[in-house]
Amino acid sequence: MPDTVPSIRVVVVGGGVSGILFTSGLFRRLGKNFHLHVTIIDKKPYFEYIGTGTLRAMFNPSHHDNMVNPGFTKTANGHELEVLHGKVLTNIDKTSNTITLRDNASSAEMMVEYDYLYIATGCSYSKFPILKPDFGSIEERRSQLEEFSQQIKAAPHVIIIGGGSFACELLGELNDYYPNIPITLVNTRPNMLDRAPQGAHDYVMRFVDKANAKRKEDEKIKVILNDMVHLKTNTTNKGVELPTNALIFSCYGAAPNTSGFGDFNIPLTAEGHIKVDLYFKVEGTNNIYALGDVNNIAEEKMAATARLQAKVASTNLANLIQGKPKQIEYEPKEMVQVVSLGKKDGMMIKTSSIAGTGRMFGWMKGKVENLVLNTVRNPESLLSKQFY
Ligand SMILES: *[C@@H]1O[C@H](CO)[C@@H](O)[C@H](O)[C@H]1NC(C)=O
Ligand SMILES: *[C@@H]1O[C@H](CO)[C@@H](O)[C@H](O)[C@H]1NC(C)=O
Ligand SMILES: *[C@@H]1O[C@H](CO)[C@@H](O)[C@H](O)[C@H]1NC(C)=O
Repeated sequence: MPDTVPSIRVVVVGGGVSGILFTSGLFRRLGKNFHLHVTIIDKKPYFEYIGTGTLRAMFNPSHHDNMVNPGFTKTANGHELEVLHGKVLTNIDKTSNTITLRDNASSAEMMVEYDYLYIATGCSYSKFPILKPDFGSIEERRSQLEEFSQQIKAAPHVIIIGGGSFACELLGELNDYYPNIPITLVNTRPNMLDRAPQGAHDYVMRFVDKANAKRKEDEKIKVILNDMVHLKTNTTNKGVELPTNALIFSCYGAAPNTSGFGDFNIPLTAEGHIKVDLYFKVEGTNNIYALGDVNNIAEEKMAATARLQAKVASTNLANLIQGKPKQIEYEPKEMVQVVSLGKKDGMMIKTSSIAGTGRMFGWMKGKVENLVLNTVRNPESLLSKQFY
């Protein structure tokens, strides 16, 4: 490549599914006449896919190997990729197009310049932090999961708080691995999966009935709907007493990871989502974009939608850099969601109907994840092959 080809600096904050799929899409779509320098900023020095498999890894830590790519620093298609890990974003300067990072361990600061900045920091469950990896090595993550799996194994009782797909999938895994641990599930809504058609709730309740038919009296799964937990008193609003020796899984309260972004003058909604237009451009900025869980595009936030967003965003940036005028507007689509209930049961949910239920969908969820992961696990293909 001639030296005269200018380098275009793209900085991606967040090395989760959104950040990685966007980067790989960009590498594939940009011809060799352009020289990209992409910097991915992430807490951890490896890639981890967060999905049903993450829950499975809490029961069987060796499954974690299937969810990670230990080293994704690679050049691809002649473009350069740099991964900065162990750092926290402390400032975005829109005038000089630089961000400031602070090293978590040494507190040293550094500045990184960008031509285009993509924010893809995802979301977090503050009451269930182990779901998402933190700073530290892959070995530290693994031992954290080992420790937690021992805690689950020893639990005399489990309380699941929540009623979304996360709560349902956890219920399924727990029932697979420990069919003897009694479970109390408390949901504030009258239905499980209450944004889905009624059939989804009915199917979860049938799953619970089937599981209970195999459980002894003192090991039953108890579902409490339309009620709320008070952990200070270990009762619910309606006065149901909860066990005081239970392990509690708080499967609610996913919040976009945008704390501090208001101080950088990034416009946020009341819920903390970054305000973007249909090209994912952050309101009031020229070259800053937000992708995936953090933006305020109204759709189910999941890996499948992150993928569609990454596709549009990388196509648009590739066009922009190549001087092609076409910019695609993102259209949120009706989404098909597969919710597993353990390895051997599940359902496929559409906006207005249940597309299918049964053994096949528990299996399918694992297969779809494997499809993504086979690519993700391979450092060569992570950033160069087509996986959407
Ligand atoms: C990150 O910073 C926190 C708070 O100072 C510290 O407890 C933790 O050990 C640090 N992690 C790493 C990997 O340096
Ligand atoms: C309520 O239950 C939790 C977890 O099972 C326990 O840690 C806590 O001590 C209990 N609180 C009271 C007031 O009994
Ligand atoms: C994301 O959330 C976690 C947990 O609340 C927090 O430790 C982390 O610093 C957040 N990251 C960003 C970029 O806001």
